[in-house]
Amino acid sequence: MAFEFEQYGTGEPVVLLHAFPLSRKMWRPQIGVFDPEKFRLILPDLPGFGETPVSGGVSSIEEMALGVAELLSELSIKKAVIGGLSMGGYVAFNLFRLRPDLFKAAVFCDTAAFADTAEKRENRFKLIEKIKLHGTLPLVEEMLPALVGETTKATNARLISELEKMFAEADPKGAAAALRGMAEREDHEYLLPSIDVPTLFIVGAEDKLTDRDVAEKMHRAVKGSRLAIIENAGHFSNLENTADFNRALADFAAKA
Ligand code: MLT
Repeated sequence: MAFEFEQYGTGEPVVLLHAFPLSRKMWRPQIGVFDPEKFRLILPDLPGFGETPVSGGVSSIEEMALGVAELLSELSIKKAVIGGLSMGGYVAFNLFRLRPDLFKAAVFCDTAAFADTAEKRENRFKLIEKIKLHGTLPLVEEMLPALVGETTKATNARLISELEKMFAEADPKGAAAALRGMAEREDHEYLLPSIDVPTLFIVGAEDKLTDRDVAEKMHRAVKGSRLAIIENAGHFSNLENTADFNRALADFAAKA
């Protein structure tokens, strides 16, 4: 399955994997972080999002990871800094399990190595049923408010309405397939001690889904890793506090 993608620059490859139910467009505020003479930034659309079509009723996170490996191979890239936010991070953990050789460094943002609890899984299946009936409306009305931070809600109406638009524009089939994929994804906690490349964890201080405790637990398990807590940001830390997120990412990329 060929992924649609965009790329900028010509140096050290950096791949960033987007969150659910967004697309590569969510990384727009990060494009300027990477000096195009030093970095080659690659932004794919995962299946069912943006311009990459969905092929079936389940988009397994493992298949997404294999798709990223295929894309790197098509681009003749042997190693890259690979990062992902939330669902993109789940994909990155799968990719590390399958192809650790592809990682020069790793960036896990507002994500978790842990599989869903039974309750979370059940909620995903309920959400799939609602999407079948109402399209993306339940994503906008129920999911989004639980993800953005309180500071963003109080101070950044423009971002909220942009996110509402992005959530509403998601392909309902792609979203349902990815929800199934996320529900079925494996637990990767056991993998953490074996991550032996420079690793950065980033988490919004107001993220309630993949919260600070989760990030701290993963950070403790990955030897030598760094943790950046982004103040005044919820789950979409790259969008909610772009300045601090970009500083943490740029600093890490320069050293990695
Ligand atoms: C995401 O932001 O990618 C999703 O909210 C992750 C999830 O639902 O587990």
